[in-house]
Amino acid sequence: MHSEIDFGKIELAEAPPAGEPARQQYFMERLREVVEERSRKYGRPLTACIQTFGCQMNAKDSEKLLGILLQAGFTASEDEASDFVLYNTCTVRDNANQRVYGRLGYLNSLKKKNPHMTIALCGCMMQEPSVVEKIKKSYRFVDLVFGTHNIFRLAELLYRCYTEKRMVVDVWGGTEQIVENLPSRRKYSFKCGVNIMYGCNNFCSYCIVPYVRGRERSREPEDILAEIRALAADGVVEVMLLGQNVNSYGKTLDTPMTFAALLRQVAEIPGIERIRFMTSHPKDLSDELIGVMRDCPKICRHLHLPLQSGSSRILKKMNRVYDKEQYLALAKKIKGEIPDLSLTTDIIVGFPGETEEDFEETMDVVRRVRFDSAFTFIYSKRTGTPAAAMEDQVPEEIVKPRFERLLKEVQRISAEVCGKDVGKTMTALVEGMDTHDPALVTGRLSNNIMVHFPGDASDIGKLIPVLLTESKGFYYMGKRLP
Ligand code: SAH
Ligand code: SF4
Ligand code: F3S
Repeated sequence: MHSEIDFGKIELAEAPPAGEPARQQYFMERLREVVEERSRKYGRPLTACIQTFGCQMNAKDSEKLLGILLQAGFTASEDEASDFVLYNTCTVRDNANQRVYGRLGYLNSLKKKNPHMTIALCGCMMQEPSVVEKIKKSYRFVDLVFGTHNIFRLAELLYRCYTEKRMVVDVWGGTEQIVENLPSRRKYSFKCGVNIMYGCNNFCSYCIVPYVRGRERSREPEDILAEIRALAADGVVEVMLLGQNVNSYGKTLDTPMTFAALLRQVAEIPGIERIRFMTSHPKDLSDELIGVMRDCPKICRHLHLPLQSGSSRILKKMNRVYDKEQYLALAKKIKGEIPDLSLTTDIIVGFPGETEEDFEETMDVVRRVRFDSAFTFIYSKRTGTPAAAMEDQVPEEIVKPRFERLLKEVQRISAEVCGKDVGKTMTALVEGMDTHDPALVTGRLSNNIMVHFPGDASDIGKLIPVLLTESKGFYYMGKRLP
């Protein structure tokens, strides 16, 4: 998995190598020739723009996709009026899909002005056959479609697109393959997401992710640790370990390993000051993990623990494999062991069959746990999932008011909880300049809450002790300490 590629030795006249990543290195070079030729013809660099929808997993994939494009000679751009535009899509809820269709109309208008423009779609939405059919039929101006399992093949696919001059569609049903050692371009110099596993085996009955991301596969710990060591050597101080259910990391490896054991090894890497992870499923959260979080100061004081519903009856229908009491007991245990931990969650309102009583159970958990913050979602029917076929879909006029009530309660509690640390000194990792006041910078605390305090661009990427002077509800104002 760690084979190094020497570009000088790649013989372009020969047939492409069959093995990866050598094959993609070959196609990045071929693509570079095409990009350079076009660039000479147009008398300017060729630009590429990636738009990311969805979760951290997609954001990470976009960094890999951009790495490939830069290696192939493109210049990165934020502007959709680019020579190559790639939408990395999400399909977790229907509104994610609608946003993509809406934006495609705009891309078409741009393409009419610049016929050289190439439009590509990839990511979770493309794993749905009905979506691909619709693109092929009604969005003929799209040049390239690929899915989640073959993003590593971008160079090869785009090369085909340029040379064959027709719509290229390549979506895989699944894969066992994990291709290591391809380029990546980080969005931030000081922090980075790191995949520790791909896919999901949980099949929560409302969720499309297992169908579009495939079965659970863990990366080898050596590969993960080597990537993080390289990131640390390159100035990264914070890593976010990514997986749909990180607590089941390592179960399918030839030499099984727990997530807690992996965390311990990551924490030993010099230069890595902060470790985060997303997402934890309550059913697999072990005492070993709570112990490692408690004992290791590098692990951030933040746990995202999706609740989804507070009703045991609904949780059962959701196939979440825990009930209300178990969730409450788990939250209590974690808070007991790590009192300064910030606990956040995801909640779905309006799952099929949800009654007023079920909804009140959710409100009850929200009031008892007092989450630092919560992402609240209206249930969205995803074709092909078991919940889509359930009777008693809850009508919108019932769901909407429930959603508003929940949101209000979540926000009320969140403002109270967030203010509790005023007067304390905490370390902030400066992420950027404040967007409203040029005299301030914005930093993130270990518990994931933001703080604004005086500083300048030279502070970005640094860990700075800050006295929290004022709570603004969801963030703090602060004073830097020497
Ligand atoms: N693997 C993560 C969640 C990934 S999806 C976990 O289990 O914690 C992120 C969130 O989207 C989920 O936690 C859920 O709250 C929400 N979600 C997923 N499918 C949904 C649907 N069909 N309708 C509404 N919200 C949904
Ligand atoms: Fe979806 Fe459940 Fe898997 Fe999370 S754990 S991605 S909600 S199926
Ligand atoms: Fe969306 Fe795919 Fe993530 S469906 S939430 S981008 S895994």
